[in-house]
Amino acid sequence: EDLFHDGLKDVYYAERKILAALKKMAKGAESDQLTAAFEKHRDETEAQIERLQQVFEIFGKRAQGKTCPAIDGIIEEGQEILEEFKEAPALDAGLVAAAQ
Ligand SMILES: [Fe+2]
Repeated sequence: EDLFHDGLKDVYYAERKILAALKKMAKGAESDQLTAAFEKHRDETEAQIERLQQVFEIFGKRAQGKTCPAIDGIIEEGQEILEEFKEAPALDAGLVAAAQ
């Protein structure tokens, strides 16, 4: 039960970080198609966060995140691409790779 709770907090933290990152990536993408793809993923992520809140409720615990260094690292790399390839032709390719 403790391990499940720990994992739930990890995923909850990660999904919320991903939501914020997807908003930035949607704004940063050059192509309209890629922006639309990030916005679709953003909407899906919002639904996942709500679902996780339901899981916390069923589990009888407060919805609470726990820092996940793995997602922080992945998001940091995406942020680096946004900054380093701003206005470069490879920006969208870099964003796709970072998101994957
Ligand atoms: Fe984690």
